[in-house]
Amino acid sequence: MKNYSMEEYIEIINNALKNALPVCDYNESVVCDAMKYSIENAGKRIRPALVLEFCRICGGKIEDAIPAACAIEMIHTYSLIHDDLPCMDNDDMRRGKPSCHIAFGEDMALLAGDGLLTEAFHVISSSDFAKKFPERAVAQLEVLSKLSGANGMIGGQVIDLKSEGKSISIETLELMDAYKTGALIKASALMGVIAANGNSQQKQAAETFASCLGHAFQIVDDILDVTADEKVLGKPVGSDSESNKSTYVSILGLEKSKEYVESLTEKAINSLDVFAQNGEFLKNLAVVLSKRNK
Ligand code: IPE
Ligand code: IPE
Ligand code: MG
Ligand code: MG
Ligand code: MG
Repeated sequence: MKNYSMEEYIEIINNALKNALPVCDYNESVVCDAMKYSIENAGKRIRPALVLEFCRICGGKIEDAIPAACAIEMIHTYSLIHDDLPCMDNDDMRRGKPSCHIAFGEDMALLAGDGLLTEAFHVISSSDFAKKFPERAVAQLEVLSKLSGANGMIGGQVIDLKSEGKSISIETLELMDAYKTGALIKASALMGVIAANGNSQQKQAAETFASCLGHAFQIVDDILDVTADEKVLGKPVGSDSESNKSTYVSILGLEKSKEYVESLTEKAINSLDVFAQNGEFLKNLAVVLSKRNK
């Protein structure tokens, strides 16, 4: 089984995303331009890499996971475009460039987000993969739609906004993060397993890994909002405290938050035993993400 590096995955993903984006077939391309702007200004591409790697380690072919990899990055990018809007986090920078609404206006940013969300489902449903394995494609669409929705990412965003300026319990904080960030990370892992028609043991391991990784990932995001260098981070620092967000740092403090990241990362790594040697990429990714500076 061929191994891939993160750099190789990123190249595959960036090429596939170029082909996945729609070209407007009418005489006004601004919304397609805005979608392209936000997608091609790449972030870390963690979610699509998880789709590809879970497919690989479950014995599947990478090309079968490409539609789902594009779809999850499109939904993630839509969530960031909307997350930055003035009615949400009101952030002017994203991935080192002006946020979509600064570059294209709020109306087009709203529509570009909606466009990416909708097209994500088209990318999977219209793929050769869906023609070859319709049941797997439907199973991916079920996971993706559920975990992106009101009992997934959207739900987490609602709790996040409704918790501004309030003191919330640890339970609410954990639920918020499991939904707003954990859900799409879980969808990534599961869609990779489904692409390869993985077994229930592999699915269980993917779920446990993704929930620990997603949890740690959001805590690090909260830490970086306090400790990062804005130029490196590519988005404003101090945004959370400016909006009176309830975060791990605001509730537990920096030190406890860092300790929590370490224990979740260890748990994530331990969940990969079923993959034996094939778990190396994901183990390394979990460690790298726990120490990231952007
Ligand atoms: C940022 O996600 C938003 C969170 C869910 C914490 P990423 O840190 O993965 O953002 P990009 O895609 O690399 O820009
Ligand atoms: C964002 O959480 C989660 C989603 C977009 C679903 P944050 O609001 O903390 O993400 P950043 O810090 O703006 O990237
Ligand atoms: Mg937010
Ligand atoms: Mg934000
Ligand atoms: Mg944040």
